[in-house]
Amino acid sequence: MPLAFCTIHCSVFAMGTMTGSFVRQVTAKPKPLPEEIHFDGKTAIVTGANIGLGLESSREMVAHGLSRVILGVRNVESGNIARNTILASSPKCDVEVWEVDYESFASIMAFGARASKLNRLDIAILNAGIKVMEFSQSKTGHEKNVQVSLPYPSRTAINHLGTALLSLLLLEPLKRTAEETGAPSRLTFVTSEVHFWTPFNEKNSASILARMDEEDSFNKSDAIERYSTSKLLGVLWTRELAKKADEKKILMNCVNPGICSTSLYRADPTPGIGLLLKLLAWSPAMGAHTLTNAVAYHDGKQGAYLSEQRVTSPSAFVVSAEGEEVQKKLWDETIAVFREEAPTLSSQIC
Ligand SMILES: NC(=O)c1ccc[n+]([C@@H]2O[C@H](COP(=O)([O-])OP(=O)(O)OC[C@H]3O[C@@H](n4cnc5c(N)ncnc54)[C@H](OP(=O)(O)O)[C@@H]3O)[C@@H](O)[C@H]2O)c1
Repeated sequence: MPLAFCTIHCSVFAMGTMTGSFVRQVTAKPKPLPEEIHFDGKTAIVTGANIGLGLESSREMVAHGLSRVILGVRNVESGNIARNTILASSPKCDVEVWEVDYESFASIMAFGARASKLNRLDIAILNAGIKVMEFSQSKTGHEKNVQVSLPYPSRTAINHLGTALLSLLLLEPLKRTAEETGAPSRLTFVTSEVHFWTPFNEKNSASILARMDEEDSFNKSDAIERYSTSKLLGVLWTRELAKKADEKKILMNCVNPGICSTSLYRADPTPGIGLLLKLLAWSPAMGAHTLTNAVAYHDGKQGAYLSEQRVTSPSAFVVSAEGEEVQKKLWDETIAVFREEAPTLSSQIC
């Protein structure tokens, strides 16, 4: 009987179940970095750093001695307000605001070119993201969730295409810094537990990305599905990129920050979402502890998925043989998009 209870308990509350996620929100509490963690002398880039988890994780690293932080933001005015709030408590840090719009390949390329001139880059947290609950296309034409935004018709693309392109552009300064310092640089992708919750119906399409840009692929009766898929693409991208990278030079992982009360939910019309956040959500600062944990710990765990500040398994699909095949397909498709949209990248990476 106790064994049966345990089995039921474990399966209901397991990672990737909605109940499990809700229970862990009230039973777990992310811990801030301990005092002994120092980032002195280091430079970090954090995207989506004007508000929410990006701002709070920047603030926490700065409080632990980070010498220079680059806030990657699409709205410079809002970035400058964020900069001032960080400087108010840590005036010695070099806090810079750089414009980057994930909806524009050109903007990402310009950001990457600027980053390549940095004398060092020890840490990158690719955090910018959106949750778009209706079909819409980014400036690039991709569905918005997929883009956060490249040249096709879909916005979920922001979460995948924008993040993926920037990750490739940051490899050079991250690697160069590791070679100079003798310690691996860190690249963290912000993903989500919702990656467990998508049926990912596009996975068997001739082209996953092209299918996601078609309006009839967007499930209007379950509008979070596309966002969830975009976060799944992020997990797959992290794992494939990590396979190709030397973990002694760049240590990569992806992190589920938990449910946090941020403006991510600004356009989420789900009934009861406000109450749910009130009851379960962690503060942005608490969620940010999971991001800073991801860049400060987990040495030797290349490509890991982190949740509640520990390495854990991503979804069953991700670790399946089919998941691995789809992961490679997604890589090839994504690189093909970049070859077309960002041709100067191809000679460096592809
Ligand atoms: N909050 C949660 O419960 C939760 C749970 C799981 C995962 N996440 C992930 O955590 C990350 C941070 O989200 P958050 O919760 O902190 O939400 P947030 O407060 O809305 O922050 C999102 C950030 O992304 C930026 N962004 C949006 N579109 C962009 C674009 N086209 N180009 C550049 N930046 C763009 C936003 O800039 P603007 O201010 O200009 O819009 C903002 O700085 C996201 O990747 C999200 O998917 C959050």
